[in-house]
Amino acid sequence: MCGIFAYLNFLTPKTRKEILDYLLNGLQRLEYRGYDSAGLSIDRHLNNGVMLFKKQGKVAALKAALIDYLEDGCEGSYEDILNCHVGIAHTRWATHGPPNEINSHPQRSDPENNFLVVHNGIITNYQDIKKYLEIHGHRFESETDTEVVAKLAAHIYSQNKELTFRQVVELTCQQLEGAFALVFKSRYFPGECVASRRGSPLLVGIKTKLRLAVNHVPVFYSKDTKSRRGMEQNTLRRETSTEFTPLGEDHSTEYFFSSDASAVVEHTNRVIYLEDDDVAAIHNGNLSIHRISRSMDIESPDWREISTTKLEIQQIMKGEYSSFMLKEIFEQPESVVNTMRGRVNFKNETVVLGGIKDFIPDIRRCRRMLLIGCGTSYHTALATRQLLEELTELPVMVDLASDFLDRKTPIFRDDVCFFISQSGETADTLAALRYCKSKGSLNLGITNTVGSSISRETDCGVHINAGPEIGVASTKGYTSQVVSLVMFALIMSEDRLSLQPRRSEIISGLENLSEHIKQVLQQDTIISKLAEELFQKRSLLVMGRGYGYATCLEGALKIKELTYMHSEGILAGELKHGPLALVDEMLPIISIITRSPVYDKCMNAILQVTARGGKPILICEEGDTSTEELVPGSTYIHVPHTVDCLQGILTIIPMQMLAYHMALLKGCNVDCPRNLAKSVTVE
Ligand code: UD1
Ligand code: M6R
Repeated sequence: MCGIFAYLNFLTPKTRKEILDYLLNGLQRLEYRGYDSAGLSIDRHLNNGVMLFKKQGKVAALKAALIDYLEDGCEGSYEDILNCHVGIAHTRWATHGPPNEINSHPQRSDPENNFLVVHNGIITNYQDIKKYLEIHGHRFESETDTEVVAKLAAHIYSQNKELTFRQVVELTCQQLEGAFALVFKSRYFPGECVASRRGSPLLVGIKTKLRLAVNHVPVFYSKDTKSRRGMEQNTLRRETSTEFTPLGEDHSTEYFFSSDASAVVEHTNRVIYLEDDDVAAIHNGNLSIHRISRSMDIESPDWREISTTKLEIQQIMKGEYSSFMLKEIFEQPESVVNTMRGRVNFKNETVVLGGIKDFIPDIRRCRRMLLIGCGTSYHTALATRQLLEELTELPVMVDLASDFLDRKTPIFRDDVCFFISQSGETADTLAALRYCKSKGSLNLGITNTVGSSISRETDCGVHINAGPEIGVASTKGYTSQVVSLVMFALIMSEDRLSLQPRRSEIISGLENLSEHIKQVLQQDTIISKLAEELFQKRSLLVMGRGYGYATCLEGALKIKELTYMHSEGILAGELKHGPLALVDEMLPIISIITRSPVYDKCMNAILQVTARGGKPILICEEGDTSTEELVPGSTYIHVPHTVDCLQGILTIIPMQMLAYHMALLKGCNVDCPRNLAKSVTVE
């Protein structure tokens, strides 16, 4: 979805070219999120002016157009040195109005570009604000909800020119409903930048030559109507002395605003994750964070920590791979190990999840568990439900977040709800979490992104530690999510004597998992040949049951999102209830059949397919001669044998590889499939 990147250099001389490179590079780091247009704003050469540049399509197109425009010299030289400057940039994923230049961000208040804003999220009351502004003479040029924000800021400032930039933004944001992360630039306030968020992530990166004087930034309250200790105060606080300033004589500082840490890590690892309704302002090179008033119900500290992000630049580079997706598929032998690192002791057969260990007694007392997610993360819920039911003996519900919310599912205080999300920002999953919070359940996150909204808003949780997943199609995120929930199930059953043999076989499966994944990855040549046979077909079914069912749904999702071919995952038990009508000699069917209690039932379904002329492609286990005898002449993809509950990790990998190869043959963009976004931050 949309991405924000802004850069402010204070007393840090940079050429115009360097600043543009920073902004464009920042946008490129956000490309993986999915977008259809891009834009940026920097200062003009003359008259305190502000330049706005936008383009439909990729960041590369924006860059090419900018070079053409700037090379004629009318905006000053590329080599002009700017001592103190603010640039804001954005990648837009169209919601209100088609992807075109006018609808791209930054959005502006007027043709003079007096106030400019970049926005992630949706302003739900924009129609009302638009009507109000139209009555006051403002004319709108775009179809976006965002334009009202820039125009409202200009309108508020026109009413009172004494206001500071931060106050203008504060007053503007008070009128907005919906979800937003906003970064503002203004012609009236050169060298200043103000940002705010509600519901959409936003962080500030800080880079100084000298060591930082503090490891936190205090929060100021404009109105302190009632402190959290319940004392009436009604005072206006002094707002000058304690803002963040770098230590020492050298005050040169660079600030970065971004919706995503991956755009900032190459410049600095010191970041502040803003909270909802924070207004972060940079004035005279100093950063301060303000809030209108203390929240009555959210326990939010009076400071924001400057944390050190552990994300490394190498982690978000493609390296020797041609695409992020391929890199992430091939990283799985390591990423599953990283998920287990420091958590599973294979020798003693113990598992500790530091993030939830204090909550285990509460979880053990719960009445039921709910696993909630979207897309691939929902498939993780399906892939692990059976094991959770077996090892906890509790009822386990799995739900798609959107449907869970539509149904207003009853939630009780003694429920434990898991919110599974690679990005930790998915709007539906986050909304489901907030709904559950209001009902008083214990809420756990299973996320890959430290500092994400879900990670921060859950009571506790597990970071899956798979490393950044940039390809829109989730691959290593899925396998690490499954491993995380398997580890959780093992913890829940550690006291049960009768379950120890079962736990031992699972822990041994986890120990060998990385090696097993490596063996599956060696099948790449066979799978790419299969892709050649399949990529021109119209449709593809993936069939299985038991632990194989999640692989069917997830495999079909990979095929459809990457190749744009229709693909459906079907439960083998449902074959006779409808899908069998589709079967003929032409329709390709991939069947997952591994040695498990449902083997015979899976085989029955396969034989029903072959009896109707179908030629299933089988994902089966190495050394499984009986399957090859029963279904001779098929294409077989072999995966090593492992314990049933981990088999889904091995069977999904050939499907990821197949989808990848088919997409390449069809000429599709494997990292950014059309119409999709990595992080779905709108409902
Ligand atoms: C933590 C450290 C890890 C360190 C380890 C050493 C972090 C992010 N992790 O890992 O670097 O090596 O201790 O003991 O600093 N949480 C949520 N919701 C979520 C995910 C996590 O609330 O969706 C919370 C957890 O409850 C926990 C914290 O975030 O309080 C960190 O979680 P996690 O990284 O999983 O904890 P550890 O594995 O202990
Ligand atoms: O970040 P999340 O795990 O919450 O994302 C949920 C889905 O949008 C995501 O899994 C999506 O289905 C993937 N692109 C599929 O590969």
